[in-house]
Amino acid sequence: MFASIRSRCLPARQLASTARAAASCARTVFPASRLGCRASYHKPARSEAFKRLTKDDLAYFKAIMPSETVLATAQVGGTADAIELEGFNADWLNKYRGDSQLVLRPKTTEQVSQILQYCNTHRIAVVPQGGNTGLVGGSVPVHDEVVLSLRNMSKIRSYDELSGILVCDAGCVLEELGNYVGERGHIMPLDLGAKGSCHIGGNVAANAGGIRFLRYGSLHGSVLGLEVVLADGTVLDNLSTLRKDNTGYDLKQLFIGSEGTLGVVTGVSVATPQKPSAVNVAVLGVPTYECVQRAFKLARKRCGEVLSAYEFWDANCMGAVLRHHELKSPLGAEFPFYVLIETSGSNKEHDDEKLGALLEELMEEGIAEDGALAQDDSQIARMWSMREGIPESLGKTGPTYKYDVSIPIPVLYDIVGDIARRLETAGLYKPGDATRPVKLVCGYGHIGDGNLHLNVVAERFEDRVTEIFEPYVYEWVASHRGSISAEHGVGLMKRDYLRYSKSPEMIAYMKRVKDLFDPNHILNPYKVV
Ligand code: FAD
Ligand code: MLT
Ligand code: ZN
Repeated sequence: MFASIRSRCLPARQLASTARAAASCARTVFPASRLGCRASYHKPARSEAFKRLTKDDLAYFKAIMPSETVLATAQVGGTADAIELEGFNADWLNKYRGDSQLVLRPKTTEQVSQILQYCNTHRIAVVPQGGNTGLVGGSVPVHDEVVLSLRNMSKIRSYDELSGILVCDAGCVLEELGNYVGERGHIMPLDLGAKGSCHIGGNVAANAGGIRFLRYGSLHGSVLGLEVVLADGTVLDNLSTLRKDNTGYDLKQLFIGSEGTLGVVTGVSVATPQKPSAVNVAVLGVPTYECVQRAFKLARKRCGEVLSAYEFWDANCMGAVLRHHELKSPLGAEFPFYVLIETSGSNKEHDDEKLGALLEELMEEGIAEDGALAQDDSQIARMWSMREGIPESLGKTGPTYKYDVSIPIPVLYDIVGDIARRLETAGLYKPGDATRPVKLVCGYGHIGDGNLHLNVVAERFEDRVTEIFEPYVYEWVASHRGSISAEHGVGLMKRDYLRYSKSPEMIAYMKRVKDLFDPNHILNPYKVV
């Protein structure tokens, strides 16, 4: 039973038992036909600068790596069925789809190096792929690029329990790393709903944010070193385990967030923080977005040193989660907004006292109208699964357009109402009317980081829907000096909109960096710049 914060006297409400792990993104690829969706994105034309694969190319790859790590269709001389490549060609949203006929799953850095050297010499385009949970069309081919999957590179190379520095292969799954360091008294510095599938290399390449960002900051801070294979096969061994190293340019930073366009990450050195001994989680029902902000301000004031997460979601998100997960709200009623507050520290009594005082103040001031405090680890997990289950629940509701933006907190939620009104004016959306092409417009996110996830759930991906909010969303964000990607990256989805967040001079220099590391542009072509 959750402890209710309203004088701790509300009737007990039992949540159905849904493990947090269940919400942690079991990867589901719906065949396009089943959802009736078609690609509604600009697919750039195939560049004829890239070679089309032949049987000779396949023979080369088979000579340098074990045959079970090479997956090729008959079109390029292999025996695999196209369906076997489906999971590598379609993205998590089932929005972006490529037509690769060859998937390579190397086991060593040396094999990655040989693959890239060959592809560079022969102008064969390559898409590096981790867990394929990316949300911007960056992890799947656009046309017939070779998929270079890191999933067979999943060894822990070393772990220093004193410093908490972990060195591992890029293909290690984030959740498995969390379990490994957890058994040794540490946690990973990042956590996100896709942890059960995403790789640490993919996290680094995407510069993923997630729910621990507020406390532990960005991967630009926690990644200490990388091993990267460049387009020509050169191995850049920068797998430092030093916290401080001021010897010249910090090249690894260029690869963090480069989305597979500058090199293939094969090894990662990352600092893992001490596991907090006291964790508290509360969920609040909040009447307005203004109150969401006021609660955040007060949470920082009263619990600043132990506050480790501050997330919010709106009523439409909550509705989707409750419909699609076996969860019940820990609160007694429905609210326009929900807030999840987490504290993490080393002194339970101290944290309990601080959080308790904060929650009571929020209730007394009318900033929160109801609240529930988790009483044990399983309740903490269920509260988190409510928040982390949002993307999957929206996906089950229908094809989802996702915008992932940084906007100043005071106006952060305004864009959700704005987009809903535009869709209503166009006759495409009416709240509660399931016959309209758009089913849901909703917002959630990492409000402590100024990061909103605006989602539009539709009947199908189609241009008449997209054109209502694209490029309008990007213009809106730029007019508030925000970022069109807070954490998901650019990929294919936003490559034509980079100018809304980067000046022409910045883009020109990004292109020069790309030319330097990958002069033949074989790495993840058509994406980012
Ligand atoms: P992929 O999706 O395979 O690839 C992502 C990008 O990195 C692609 O451009 C790919 O080419 C490149 N890449 C992958 N591996 C390598 C490599 N070894 N070397 C070079 N390039 C590589 N993101 C957040 O920031 N915060 C969140 O809270 C968050 N939550 C999510 C929740 C769900 C349910 C889902 C489905 C996604 C979420 N994401 C989130 C998006 C996504 O960025 C992360 O899931 C993750 O970081 C991607 O890792 P991956 O291994 O799946 O990479
Ligand atoms: C999240 O915060 O849940 C992720 O970034 C995924 C999403 O935006 O849906
Ligand atoms: Zn997010």
